[in-house]
Amino acid sequence: MTRHFLRDDDLSPQEQSEILDLAVQVRDDRWARKPLAGPQTVAVIFDKSSTRTRVSFAVGIADLGGSPLIITTANSQLGGKETPYDTARVLERMVSAIVWRTYAQSGLEQMAEGTTVPVVNALSDDFHPCQLLADLLTIRDVYGRLSGLTVTFLGDGSSNMAQSYLLAGAVAGVHVRVASPQEFAPRDSVVSDADAIAATTGGSITLYTDPFEAVAGADVVVTDTWVSMGKEEEKAHRIAAMADYKVTTELMSLAKPSAIFLHCLPADRGYEVDPEVIDGPQSAIWNEAENRLHAQKALLAWLLAKGQS
Ligand code: CP
Ligand code: NVA
Repeated sequence: MTRHFLRDDDLSPQEQSEILDLAVQVRDDRWARKPLAGPQTVAVIFDKSSTRTRVSFAVGIADLGGSPLIITTANSQLGGKETPYDTARVLERMVSAIVWRTYAQSGLEQMAEGTTVPVVNALSDDFHPCQLLADLLTIRDVYGRLSGLTVTFLGDGSSNMAQSYLLAGAVAGVHVRVASPQEFAPRDSVVSDADAIAATTGGSITLYTDPFEAVAGADVVVTDTWVSMGKEEEKAHRIAAMADYKVTTELMSLAKPSAIFLHCLPADRGYEVDPEVIDGPQSAIWNEAENRLHAQKALLAWLLAKGQS
């Protein structure tokens, strides 16, 4: 049966854990698995800019024995003349999976409706689930587990990263805290979905407006840009509204002494995080970035195997 990965809770707790285990295996033996041998092609489509996602999918698909086809939407019919559904019907005749970075989550849902090959969300306005697999892998590498840890996200609670932390963290049994100004709180429906999952996994979801309270005793402190792609016109207002949520050494000192700092990158040093933190000893950002490669290879291998069972 075709499985898609459009949002973090498309995976059950057991499935998420299986993919993280597989990510460790593909990291330990990078060229051992060739589920895309042929080479089979994977379409990787970008409506928005990217460095990490573009490179990690291109390299990962090649590592798996396949051939990445990077498509920039501006040079395709998608987004203008052709619907996601029709695009998917055509692509599935030629490619083994579709990876798409886009704006509206609904576009990904339409793409998935139109195809029997896996569709993967490579970032939408609402979620960034591939990044969360890499983040969870990074956290698990440090702590040896996910369940029961406390992870605090600070800044734009309505961003794709914060909302993915709510869902993926809940699936993993994490105590997820999100601290943001009220006007940038996560969407109610995402919070209630995360709450319902957390109730079954032993995790929890707590929203804060006070960044100091949110960070107290945390195992992991996370932030992301205050100005996500597509929000550039709101830049001045966002910077003013979120100024109190900057991750400083003072804020980090309230987390556990063993706490790590994560950021999906790209970062605006001096805005959402001080250079002393992101470039300091608690920062795990480079391992986090590398783990995109391993986590996504595991995800693709897992989705392709599910399609054959
Ligand atoms: N973290 C992340 O998705 O980075 P890119 O925008 O460079 O792909
Ligand atoms: N929240 C950021 C993530 C970038 C990888 C954005 O959407 O621009």
